[in-house]
Amino acid sequence: MPFQLPAEFHTQPTPFYYYDLALLDQTLTALTAAARPGNFQVHYALKANFNRPVLERIRRAGLGADCVSGGEVQRALEAGFGADHVVFAGVGKSDAEINLALAADIFCFNAESVPELRVLDELAGAQGRRARVALRVNPNVDAYTHPHITTGLDANKFGISLPDLAGVIDQLDQLPNVELIGLHAHIGSQITEMSVFAALSRKLNDLQTWLEDRGHHLPHLNVGGGLGINYEQPDEQPIPDFATYFGMFEQHLQRRPGQQVHVELGRSVVAQCGTLLSRVLYVKESQHTRFAILDAGMTELMRPALYGSHHHIQNLSSQQPEQAYDVVGPICESTDTFGRARLLPETQRGDLMAIRSAGAYGEVMSSGYNLREKAAAVYGGA
Ligand code: LLP
Repeated sequence: MPFQLPAEFHTQPTPFYYYDLALLDQTLTALTAAARPGNFQVHYALKANFNRPVLERIRRAGLGADCVSGGEVQRALEAGFGADHVVFAGVGKSDAEINLALAADIFCFNAESVPELRVLDELAGAQGRRARVALRVNPNVDAYTHPHITTGLDANKFGISLPDLAGVIDQLDQLPNVELIGLHAHIGSQITEMSVFAALSRKLNDLQTWLEDRGHHLPHLNVGGGLGINYEQPDEQPIPDFATYFGMFEQHLQRRPGQQVHVELGRSVVAQCGTLLSRVLYVKESQHTRFAILDAGMTELMRPALYGSHHHIQNLSSQQPEQAYDVVGPICESTDTFGRARLLPETQRGDLMAIRSAGAYGEVMSSGYNLREKAAAVYGGA
C-alpha cells in the first residue's frame, strides 16, 4: 500500500512527523515471531526514537531497552520497561548517569574501557551494589555501511580491541564490585549485507573459545543492532527482513548451553513507521536546476545533510507529469538538501510532501538551528 496520510492530518501545520502505529505493531509482531520468544532477547535502541507512544508499543510487545544516556535510562523506566531488561551502553558515561542506572539496578552495563570499569566499581561500591557488566569488544569486522555509522573497525573509538582484551579482563577480575556476565559487540548500522552478521558470529565464536580456555564462561552474548531497512522503496518492504537477520546468528553463532543471546535493534523497528510531512513554500527555477523549497529542513531531518542518506520523497498533492527537482529546505546551509534531481509530479506552492522512512534517527536528531521550533509529532493507525 502506498503511503497515505489520514484525512484528519491534512490541515495539521507543517512540518510535522506522522507515525503509523499500526505499521509499528505489524513490525513488532514480525520481529518477535522471528526472534522466537526465549531464543533471542531483543532490546530496542531508544536512541532511534524515544517518543512515548512509540515506546509504549514496543514495551507492550515485550522488548527490553538499550540506552545510551541517563536520560534514556530514565525515559525507559518511565515508559515501564523493567530495570531487569535495561542495558546501558556508551563510550562516555558520566558519574551521574552511572549512579542513576546503578540505583535502578539495571540488568547490564556495556563497558568499553578500564578507566570506565574502575569508575563503575567505585560508584557501585559506594551504593553497596555490584554492577553487572558486558565488555564491548571491537571485533574489527567491516559492516560495509556508511563510514560515519561503522563502529566495529580498529580505527573506531568504540569497544576494546581484541589484543587488549586479556589485560582488561585481568584488571576487571581485581574489581570487587563489578561482575563480568557477557560480551557485547556492535559493528555498525544500516547493514544490508547480511553476511556481515555471519562474520561477526565467527569472531565471537573464536573469542568465546579463547575466553573459555582462560576459565571464563559467560552467560550472555550481546551482538548489537544494525539491521538495515529499504530506504529506496519503503512501500516494497515496509517490514525489514528479521527472519534472515536472526537466521544468520542461529546458523553461525555457537551458543553455549543455557547462554542468552541479546540483540539491540533500533532503526529496523521504527524507521518505516515514521514520515516527515512538509509543504512546498516555493518552486524556484534557476539556470540549471528546478528547486522545490520545503518548510522542513535539516533541522527536522538531518540524515541527508549529515550522511548523504537517501529518503524516498513523494508529492501527495499532485498527479501531474513528472519533472526533476532538487528538494531542499529553508536552512542557510547548502547541505540542507533532501534529494537532487528527484522525479516528482509537477509541484507547486502549498503541495504536501512526504519524506519517508524517517521514524528512526529523524526526530531525535532534530535541532533548533536558525531558531526553528520543534516539529510536532502525530500518531495514526491505532
Ligand atoms: N547498539 C549500539 C551500541 C549502537 O551504537 C546502536 C546504534 C544500536 C545498538 C542500534 O543500531 P540500529 O539497529 O539502529 O542500527 N544516526 C545514524 C545511526 C547511528 C547509529 C548509532 N548506533 C543514522 O541516522 O543513520
